[in-house]
Order: sequence, then C-alpha cells, then structure tokens
Amino acid sequence: MPTRVRKAVFPVAGLGTRLLPATKTIPKEMITIVDRPLIQYAVDEAREAGIEQLIFVTGRGKSALVDYFDVGFELEATLRDKGKSLDVLDPSNARFGEVVSVRQQVPLGLGHAVWCARDIVGDEPFAVLLPDELMFGQPGCLAQMVEAYDKVGGNLVAALEVPESETHKYGVIDPGASDGRLTEIKGLVEKPAPGTAPSNLMLPGRYILQPEVMRALDAQEKGAGGEIQLTDAMAKLIGQQPLHAFRFEGERYDCGGADGFVIANIAMALKRQDVGPAVKAFLSTAKARGAV
Ligand code: UTP
Repeated sequence: MPTRVRKAVFPVAGLGTRLLPATKTIPKEMITIVDRPLIQYAVDEAREAGIEQLIFVTGRGKSALVDYFDVGFELEATLRDKGKSLDVLDPSNARFGEVVSVRQQVPLGLGHAVWCARDIVGDEPFAVLLPDELMFGQPGCLAQMVEAYDKVGGNLVAALEVPESETHKYGVIDPGASDGRLTEIKGLVEKPAPGTAPSNLMLPGRYILQPEVMRALDAQEKGAGGEIQLTDAMAKLIGQQPLHAFRFEGERYDCGGADGFVIANIAMALKRQDVGPAVKAFLSTAKARGAV
C-alpha cells in the first residue's frame, strides 16, 4: 500500500484578475458560494479525504484566508452572549497546527506556488487542490482519488472530459491504456494550441503527487505562458513513476470567472434544504416569465 496522503497544498497566491473588481481587496477564495467562502469547500473536501495538514500558499492581500481558519474570540463571545449557537463556525475552526501558510512572493506560476511548500511537505506524498475549481461528489473528488491512489500509487491527477473546442484553456493528457476510471498518462500538454490537443481529458485541479515532483520543480523551468508549470514537472517523471488520470464521478464548477461563480452558487444552493426551495421557486418563476 502506498504511503498515506496526510498533507494538502492549496495554491491561493494568484491575482484572480478575471474576478476584478471584487478581487481588488478580497481574495477570490473568500468570495461566497451560498454562505461559505469558496476555500471552505476545498478544505471540506480535503478533510473528508483524510488530510491532516492544510498548507496555504498565499500572496499579498491573502491574509483573510488564513484568518478565516483562526478562532474568532470576539465573535464567539458575542454569539454566546446573545445565546446563539456556535455550530455554524465549526467548519472554519482549524485544529491546532492544522493550518500552515507559506508565501509565494511573486506569482510565477502554479508549479512555482506548489514548490514554495516544498519544505513543509517534506519527503512524503501530498495532495494539491485548486480551490477555484469547486468539485462536488459523494464522496468528494479527493476522497475518490485517495481510494484509487491506494491501488496504483505514484502520481495521480483528476481528469474531466471537456468539448474539444475548450481544450486550449487547460492542461490536457495524452492517454494510454484505461482500466475503469483510471487511465495511464503518456504525456501532458499545458494549454495546447487549438486543434492540437492529444485528447479532450483536462486536469481540473486535483492532484496526488510524490515528493519527486518537488525535485523536478527545483529546476524552475518556465513553460506555457512563461510560467513555471506543475504539468511540466509531472511530465518529467513519466517513465520513472506511475502517472494516472482518474475520471472522478461528480460535478465540477470553474469559479475562476463570474459566470462560473454564479452557476456554482445556483447549483450548490439547489442542493441545500434550507435555501434550495426558495432558489428553485425563483428559477421556476423566472422560467414562466420567459427570463430563463
Ligand atoms: P489561475 O490562473 O486560475 O488563478 O491559477 P489566478 O491567477 O488567481 O486567476 P486569474 O487568471 O488572474 O483570474 C490557478 C490556481 O493557481 C494559483 C491560483 O491562486 C489558483 O488557485 N496560482 C497561480 C498561484 O498560487 N500562484 C501562481 O503563480 C499562479
């Protein structure tokens, strides 16, 4: 059985330019989906998968993310005085030592952000979750991946089919043999030019990686877009370590832009027993009016 995955890296140092002006002062990971910041969904997913240490790779203006997982003494005291329940705060309370943060002073790319966590990760496998990709599954995406990882080990990435016309926006896999939800990866291409993608299987931002990926990132080589790419480091290890794509069962919402954020809000609200009925009623009325 491969070594258990205990640590997860959350690269959150990006500028979030597609969500300006909101992200001028608020990290995009703190914008809410229904009544929880986006980061909470990724952290819940990681905890469900057995992750014990949450490593945030932050940048300028991202302190609210780390503060969010702190204890809010004044808030708690006020709620207690008013006789209100504190349960609502539970998911945002980290256990002592659960949250660690490191700074990426300059956004040189996703690979560079992950590499900034190298000393905290140490010599063990780790997960990477991009919080702006909201994954909904039962169990969650990372929990499904951990189950598959226990069988095949090595490096494992979540994969999703997208229309061919969209492959140029993502990291795309060159697929080998498939077995159920697992597909061997022969190669990885970051943002292939339109019409050149080796498949329509893209990487939506969930990874289980071996520490050797950090060693591959030591070279700091720039790839697509002049950025240090995580996919390039993984691709370097093909032939040395198993590399599989895992087609996860569930839904994915790209919250990197305003359209995805709105869609994710509606989709997640509809799943909730408290706010779902009101949103459903609104959508039905809007449809009857011809607005949908
Ligand atoms: P994105 O490119 O989607 O995020 O990176 P961004 O840069 O924040 O957004 P836009 O494109 O300007 O709107 C994917 C993930 O990688 C992180 C981002 O925070 C996001 O979670 N990232 C990216 C870093 O942490 N550092 C980087 O240098 C680049």
